[in-house]
Amino acid sequence: MAEVFETVEQLISEIESAKPDTPEALEQFRIRFLGSKNVIKPLFGEIRNVPNERKKEYGQLVNKAKELAEARYNSLKEALAAQSEAAAAKELDLTRPGDPFGLGSRHPISTTLNRIVTIFQRMGFSVAEGPDIEDDWHNFTAMNTPEDHPARDMQDTFYLRNSAELLLRTHTSPVQARVMTSQKPPIRIIAPGRVYRSETISARSHAQFHQVEGLYVDEGVSFADMKQTLMYFAQEMFGTPKIRLRPSYFPFTEPSAEMDVWIGMDNEKNYRLSKGTGWLEILGCGMVDPQVLENCGIDPERYSGFAFGMGIERQAMRLYDIPDIRLFFENDVRFLEQFKAVI
Ligand code: DAH
Repeated sequence: MAEVFETVEQLISEIESAKPDTPEALEQFRIRFLGSKNVIKPLFGEIRNVPNERKKEYGQLVNKAKELAEARYNSLKEALAAQSEAAAAKELDLTRPGDPFGLGSRHPISTTLNRIVTIFQRMGFSVAEGPDIEDDWHNFTAMNTPEDHPARDMQDTFYLRNSAELLLRTHTSPVQARVMTSQKPPIRIIAPGRVYRSETISARSHAQFHQVEGLYVDEGVSFADMKQTLMYFAQEMFGTPKIRLRPSYFPFTEPSAEMDVWIGMDNEKNYRLSKGTGWLEILGCGMVDPQVLENCGIDPERYSGFAFGMGIERQAMRLYDIPDIRLFFENDVRFLEQFKAVI
């Protein structure tokens, strides 16, 4: 009987003298005296073997052991925390140089795009947007390219799995349809964005790239207006107003043209880029086909318009002398870092 008193007394002195000086040792202490299988718990049960007249005394003793363990644990924990804080402060060297904070840079596609957008904004165009995942109607049908139209083959399309309706837009032209079905003329917008085509990836073509679409619809808009607008653009973007319009075909414009900008052949780079002609092709354009206006609920008897669509990558390649289109999408910091100075 006296033995259980002794056991508790021993535990109490063990608790009082314990000096765990590492977090691990402290954890051992916690497990031994406060954990779910601690050594004090079974001693409460021993009370049934203690004679009645000493039960009270015994109970108080075991309780004291338990409270002591808790108090001791808390103060030891505090002491340890203060200790490690002090140690960390000692190691703190305020004279050490800070970690370098890397400054980012804008992607060359973004800076090229911003330049283009700014030029058209100065002429009163505002920016419109459409979704990357388009439906067949906006991407093709509204743009006068119904099913079975041979022009659909011009653009190899990524369809969404299990859908004949949804696709990744093959050009930014569907934004024309989105704007014309939701706004009334006069309409003067540009629509920059990402487009997708199922194409073999090489130095000159990629399965994803960027375009800027333009659309101007009002009463009495003429081919001359288009030419003047695009000439101003060429002047601002490339420093030359010398452009060339070649007859072309697009289902959504009539007549249609492709525009080349004169970049000359006075150095090897321009010679290569223009394939020895001095002309760089940058966009397709034309007068909006009356059928397209009608598809979108605009009266072609009253209104006319012009539209154009241009690729960004080729212009960025020319602006920054970049030889391979794939560099734009690899996001290699060694490439991107070179554009820090470009705003
Ligand atoms: N959507 C055409 C393409 O991706 C480019 C284009 C040509 C857009 C003529 C136009 C346009 O708005 O009028 O090749």
